Amino acid sequence: MADKAQIGVTGLAVMGRNLARNLARHGHAVAVHNRSPERTKALVEEFGHEGTFLPADTPEQFVASLERPRRVVIMVKAGAPTDAVIEEFAPLLEPGDMIIDAGNAHFADTRRREAALRERGLHFVGTGVSGGEEGALHGPSIMPGGSPESYEALGPLLEDISAKVDGTPCCTYVGPDGAGHFVKMVHNGIEYSDMQLIAEAYELLRHAGGMEPAQIAEVFRRWNTGRLESYLIEITAEVLAHTDAATGKPFVDAVVDQAEQKGTGRWTVQIALDLGVPVSGIAEAVFARSLSGHADLRDAARDLPGPRPSRVGDVDALVEDVEQALYASKIVAYAQGFNQIQAGSAEYGWNIDPGAMATIWRGGCIIRARFLDRIRAAYDADPDLPTLLVDDHFRDAVAGAQDSWRRVVATAAQSGIPVPGFSTALAYYDGLRAQRLPAALVQGQRDFFGAHTYRRVDRNGAFHTLWGGDRSEVSA
Ligand code: 6PG
Repeated sequence: MADKAQIGVTGLAVMGRNLARNLARHGHAVAVHNRSPERTKALVEEFGHEGTFLPADTPEQFVASLERPRRVVIMVKAGAPTDAVIEEFAPLLEPGDMIIDAGNAHFADTRRREAALRERGLHFVGTGVSGGEEGALHGPSIMPGGSPESYEALGPLLEDISAKVDGTPCCTYVGPDGAGHFVKMVHNGIEYSDMQLIAEAYELLRHAGGMEPAQIAEVFRRWNTGRLESYLIEITAEVLAHTDAATGKPFVDAVVDQAEQKGTGRWTVQIALDLGVPVSGIAEAVFARSLSGHADLRDAARDLPGPRPSRVGDVDALVEDVEQALYASKIVAYAQGFNQIQAGSAEYGWNIDPGAMATIWRGGCIIRARFLDRIRAAYDADPDLPTLLVDDHFRDAVAGAQDSWRRVVATAAQSGIPVPGFSTALAYYDGLRAQRLPAALVQGQRDFFGAHTYRRVDRNGAFHTLWGGDRSEVSA
């Protein structure tokens, strides 16, 4: 038994427990602590053979068992519980020690906590960890923020337990203070968007294609051998192929159609609004969950007039079109998410490398996907890429997909199938490529009712038209 642990984990619910086991399995001695000691005991009893665990009943005992600089991972609920645990442990630590928050904290909280602990000589590392329970145990994608100095002491351990793709760890230093949690937040926003797009593809195949869930599962399995290959496509096929034991019906038909959320997608959109980044795909995904949850509203509106989906003539052609629409919409969703990362990085001075984020998302995390390699390549070729959509590969992919994409959105509109994700992605694409937008008219309206002024296409300066007078133009 080691007399000191290299790292400690407090908060041993399933994520914390699995992270601790992953560390131990990689040969690191891990101090473990939980508010109620039964969990600590259970962990050691059940999994003690996997490595070296140093169980502690009290925070004092836990801290005393750690080598210096102490690395204390806290894995508790975001918000007040995290603050409470920090306040419990910080007074027991010494300058140079670090507290690592591996939960889904809001990055603004992480910034506040980092600043406060820095004052006390402690490092605070807010890190995103993605991959769910299985990822935590077998290799998650890890997105640590904080001081570069803290990464020196902590990074090798985290890289060691992270997923690997082609031998490269899915963990890298993201940037100072809240950068890691910000990137994790956007990861989750993209996750929402990806899930919504996949759900819309299913809906179209089910209702315009007249296909059964088990048949659609086969389609997703096939797609998962091509450019759409990803964890979310893979699990979608599993879910669709599953039969409900109680009724013998497809599982998906036995589940209430109201999607829930814990809030990271919503945060992504709230922050995007503040930063002025149009993440319309993520926003529509959040709103689609929200709409699904308004049971009373949906009951009241169920009989509103409109078309009911009918089966298209050529189902194979529909399947092909939907694949194209899904890929194009997915590119838009990621393009928007990466723009948000760049905007956050600029706003907070984080200097985040977007290509490195694509690299660490290739494995371990929920949005892991083959095409993240393409995103990495795009940012390698041009780190200042204004949008992924103008990268040669993605430009060609969307160009090739767009006839199908437009047909899918048109079919959905004509059949009364809601596809907010596909539609908003297409509208964003068309919005970006428009030579002129009706924003000019909006400026005119604003100037009319509020003298808000406008700029002209042919001269510099701000102008106002005297709408209530002789309609001459004045410089503002
Ligand atoms: C991950 C997941 C994880 C969590 C989601 C679920 O990356 O491992 O994103 O963090 O499962 O936050 O989010 P909702 O409950 O909001 O769907």
